[in-house]
Amino acid sequence: MPSLRRLFSSCFTGQKSSTTVVYGKSPSSATTSDDGALEKKTADVDIKEPETKPIPAPLSSSSPSPTSSPSTYPPNKALVVAAKKTYALVPDIGYPTLEHESEVIIQTQAVGLNPIDWKSVDYNFCLPEFPWITGREMAGVVVEVGKDVKDLKVGDRVWTSTYYKSRRAGCFQTYVAVPAHTALPLPSNLTPEASACLGVAGLTAAMTLWNWLGVPMPTPTSPSTHSSPHSPFLLIWGGSAATGQFAIQLATLAGLRVIAVTSAKTAHIATALGAAHVVTRDERSNDDIVTAIREIAGDSITRALDLVGSSTAVACLRAVSTTQPVLFAPLALMSKDVVVPGNVRVETVEMKRFVMDEGARRFAEGLVRLVGDGKVRVPEIEVVEGGLEVVEGALERLKKGDLGGRKVVVRC
Ligand SMILES: NC(=O)c1ccc[n+]([C@@H]2O[C@H](COP(=O)([O-])OP(=O)(O)OC[C@H]3O[C@@H](n4cnc5c(N)ncnc54)[C@H](OP(=O)(O)O)[C@@H]3O)[C@@H](O)[C@H]2O)c1
Repeated sequence: MPSLRRLFSSCFTGQKSSTTVVYGKSPSSATTSDDGALEKKTADVDIKEPETKPIPAPLSSSSPSPTSSPSTYPPNKALVVAAKKTYALVPDIGYPTLEHESEVIIQTQAVGLNPIDWKSVDYNFCLPEFPWITGREMAGVVVEVGKDVKDLKVGDRVWTSTYYKSRRAGCFQTYVAVPAHTALPLPSNLTPEASACLGVAGLTAAMTLWNWLGVPMPTPTSPSTHSSPHSPFLLIWGGSAATGQFAIQLATLAGLRVIAVTSAKTAHIATALGAAHVVTRDERSNDDIVTAIREIAGDSITRALDLVGSSTAVACLRAVSTTQPVLFAPLALMSKDVVVPGNVRVETVEMKRFVMDEGARRFAEGLVRLVGDGKVRVPEIEVVEGGLEVVEGALERLKKGDLGGRKVVVRC
């Protein structure tokens, strides 16, 4: 892949229970979920058509060097999106340089896979230009720190959550460069593989609840809270999704009564994590599900989170209160044409805030504390062996769905 290599040279101056599988690189055709990603209206989505940049002249040296012992570093292998819907595995795109003294470089040990990873490539969004590197969450070892970094040192084991606009932060590569405030220590009870799912599902659930849906974030000294028959409701449509599993637990810890919509197959997961009510969706229309939800909660749901798609986002709007103020986070897209009742505030969850606002680190710290204390469990992890070579095939697995509440993580 010499041309890509040249381009990159210029660009880059468990909880221990998990199952392990090995995939071949055999992506098969797959369908998108009901709503796919075609209505590109969500927080971290860039709907611009990416351009392919002209290939500049190579640098005189083959790749930039890290400040310490470059020869000791293996090549920076990357799975790049080389062109529309086209991946390429590049053996060495060059080791990244620190752009700021407040950055760190992390060597990838495990990378979490998320629906956005395949959606952005299939539907061509969140790709500022080609080639690009996707991948939003990972865990690994710090190999370099900028001079202004106080709390991290080389050798620390960390996880991070990244913003798609930085190619250096794309997690489908061996060395990932991120602002230090976005790199958090692994919870002591988690493997790197389990920690690799904190960056998207875990942190999104935490920030959505604590920052956007007005759910109190527990502090180390908060007393235990239990829901009562008078506690406010939170509706989570997609309660067995990885994000839903974290959200159920965080809401329950805050004393909310969770109503989760899941398939019958995964209903036990939502129940085990604390959902007060689980409404199963099999062979039921959304209208029937809304009726079942209203039989439980009447007209009193004041918070809702949709993790499935635009038709279920609309169904959530029919399930929530018609008279009280409601906060609603449609995380899996909602058409801009939907008429939102006046009592409902639709929250645009912008996970880029975590990267752009150092103060948002407190949400990640709160999540680490709860996981480390055993108060929040990560979803069951399906570890895929084989490194960046198998990411493309593993994303096909995600696209097909039917993961039964498991989270796919690739070991690098
Ligand atoms: N920054 C952001 O805005 C952000 C961050 C995180 C996630 N998201 C979005 O949130 C969604 C969920 O992501 P994830 O990674 O948590 O998902 P995931 O772990 O891949 O899970 C998807 C789940 O959806 C459930 N599901 C499918 N159709 C359903 C339906 N009609 N009703 C109820 N549940 C249904 C399936 O469970 P059952 O079949 O067992 O019901 C499946 O487990 C995705 O669209 C993702 O892009 C957005």
